[in-house]
Amino acid sequence: MSAQLSEHAAGAPVLKVTGLKKAYGAIQAVGGVSFEVRPGEIFGVIGPNGSGKTTLFNSMLGQITPDAGKIELNGEDVTQLGPLQLNQRGVGRTFQTLQVFGKMTVRDNLIVAAQEHQGTMFSRMFAPGDSGLGARADALIDQFRIRHVADKKAGELSYGQQKLVDIAMAFMSQPALVLLDEPCAGVNPSLVGGISTLLKQLNQNPQLGKHSSFVVIEHNMDFVMDLCHRIMVMVEGTVMAIGTPAEIRANKQVLDAYLGS
Ligand SMILES: Nc1ncnc2c1ncn2[C@@H]1O[C@H](COP(=O)(O)OP(=O)(O)OP(=O)(O)O)[C@@H](O)[C@H]1O
Ligand SMILES: [Mg+2]
Repeated sequence: MSAQLSEHAAGAPVLKVTGLKKAYGAIQAVGGVSFEVRPGEIFGVIGPNGSGKTTLFNSMLGQITPDAGKIELNGEDVTQLGPLQLNQRGVGRTFQTLQVFGKMTVRDNLIVAAQEHQGTMFSRMFAPGDSGLGARADALIDQFRIRHVADKKAGELSYGQQKLVDIAMAFMSQPALVLLDEPCAGVNPSLVGGISTLLKQLNQNPQLGKHSSFVVIEHNMDFVMDLCHRIMVMVEGTVMAIGTPAEIRANKQVLDAYLGS
């Protein structure tokens, strides 16, 4: 059963993407994608390998400049902005591959993630661990149930635990919009339910997740169907369908092209 969209879901979209295109040579990675993410919404993006999901993310994060189209964040045109500017506007992310610093402790990984957000080298060098960051790291460490490894080097943790650290890092800057690229990839099936529960908590927790909206790419269908309020299906760089989990499950075209395969 999918989560119910909270009352925050009303109102103007947090994210509005219109006609987004990005080609790599002859490959049209994203070929004119449009969708909206509402306040408080958990919006899933599914589709076969190579269907343009990560390219779409990288465009929304300012990592690559799209060839055409528009990206609006809370009504502001952010199409041409870079990653730091988007981060400062409250956009957080996790990557398809792990981005933790293996030689730093779990707790320091979290603190550094927030300092990246705050920006300056000065703050990184002269304010380690304070400005409330330590407390926020500890709250997330407890929420993610990784207290027992908080002082270990991240590189010594299991892949699944590192994945949890990676996700927690994205929440250190208290983002209003979080883009998660395959949070369950490579994770032991026993941990997948835990990640779903955590994301639901963070979506609703006014202290840590403050009415956050999420966009989640994931191949694990049970996870997506359980977690997301709405789902967009991408095939070959275009949008095949957008709908609730029930609508997507019942969509014959989606079944034939993707879910049925
Ligand atoms: N930097 C790049 N240079 C050239 N081609 C690229 C680049 N990045 C992506 N592509 C191509 O664009 C298409 C879309 O790739 P993308 O990584 O966005 O897909 P995806 O849906 O995230 O796939 P997956 O589910 O495997 O992660 C693919 O054909 C890919 O090979
Ligand atoms: Mg990808």
